Amino acid sequence: EKGGYEHFMLKEIHEQPKAIIDTYRGRMLPDEGIIRMAGVDNNMERFLNADRIIIVACGTSWHAGLVGEYLLEDMTRIPVEVEYASEFRYRNPIITPKDVVIAISQSGETADTLAAIKLAKSKGAFVFGVCNVVGSSIARETHAGAYTHAGPEIGVASTKAFTTQITILSLISLKLAKAKGTLSNSAFHMYLQKMQLIPEKVQKLLEIDEKVKEIASIYKDAKNCLYLGRGFNFPVALEGALKLKEISYIHAEGYPAAEMKHGPIALIDENMPIFVIATNKGHYEKVVSNIQEIKSRAGKIIAVVTEGDVTVKEIADHVIEIPDTEEALTPLLTTIPFQLLSYHIAVMLDKNVDQPRNLAKSVTVE
Ligand code: M6R
Repeated sequence: EKGGYEHFMLKEIHEQPKAIIDTYRGRMLPDEGIIRMAGVDNNMERFLNADRIIIVACGTSWHAGLVGEYLLEDMTRIPVEVEYASEFRYRNPIITPKDVVIAISQSGETADTLAAIKLAKSKGAFVFGVCNVVGSSIARETHAGAYTHAGPEIGVASTKAFTTQITILSLISLKLAKAKGTLSNSAFHMYLQKMQLIPEKVQKLLEIDEKVKEIASIYKDAKNCLYLGRGFNFPVALEGALKLKEISYIHAEGYPAAEMKHGPIALIDENMPIFVIATNKGHYEKVVSNIQEIKSRAGKIIAVVTEGDVTVKEIADHVIEIPDTEEALTPLLTTIPFQLLSYHIAVMLDKNVDQPRNLAKSVTVE
């Protein structure tokens, strides 16, 4: 049942190229230049007339929601808020019938997310679900939705659910942007072509496993780690840190890279590994200067860079190269090395990778 892999988590990490294809298959039609999603098409007016989109979720799904915020705002110019379902439901939030709520959940059973949906519905909002488990409570409770066709995810640490959630959010963003006219036709077509190339790029990335393993063996005894990223890759930093915490029990924090100097920089010394996402798009120069600040405090730098990078390679202690793509699609690639890294560290530390202590696959109580 583990398909020859030692753990479900590793199997699920390796299933990502296929899972992403399964998620966009039949929806994204690059030759025809369209994205077809019944749940969005049938409710297009609700989306286009929305005053704002509120994304509610927990854990890794919340991280996917943050990527969704960057995608949706950038492409559609609709204001987006991302909320922890547990906070949202209890803080008497302002919700109106002109709001669209997107609830994201792998299991479709998370108690706080379900309660947030019920609250939003009671205030007249339109609620759209992004779930993996077909027929789950959240899938049934939402007005419409789109399944991530990731297949069953058994490992408690979410991997393929995350990348397929981001795939769905990318498709929704592109589709709405096309309908609103906030993205040119040529940019829309370009994104579809680039999205179609993502699975083979993920596949290629999975082959760097040995390199990641070597890095894992060097840093597996660290007590604390920092993960830094900016823009679309800030949520990937949060997700990288969560993966490490969950299965290796190593304390890790994810931060927007620029926030480092507002506190966490005090932690940096020669014992502190710092994982930095420094792809060549967006805020590259800014990230490079963040890396220099770390270097001058003797922190160990492991950077995720774009293939062919020169500048970061000279400063970082280790680099992991990812294939080039559009900035908005980079989270689908940058997250892969962090999944593998956490996996290898947990295995090396002899932890229970698929069922980490104190955690359950779906959190059905608040
Ligand atoms: O099933 P859900 O996506 O609603 O679950 C939300 C979180 O409980 C979940 O993502 C959790 O954080 C994972 N263990 C992360 O790997």
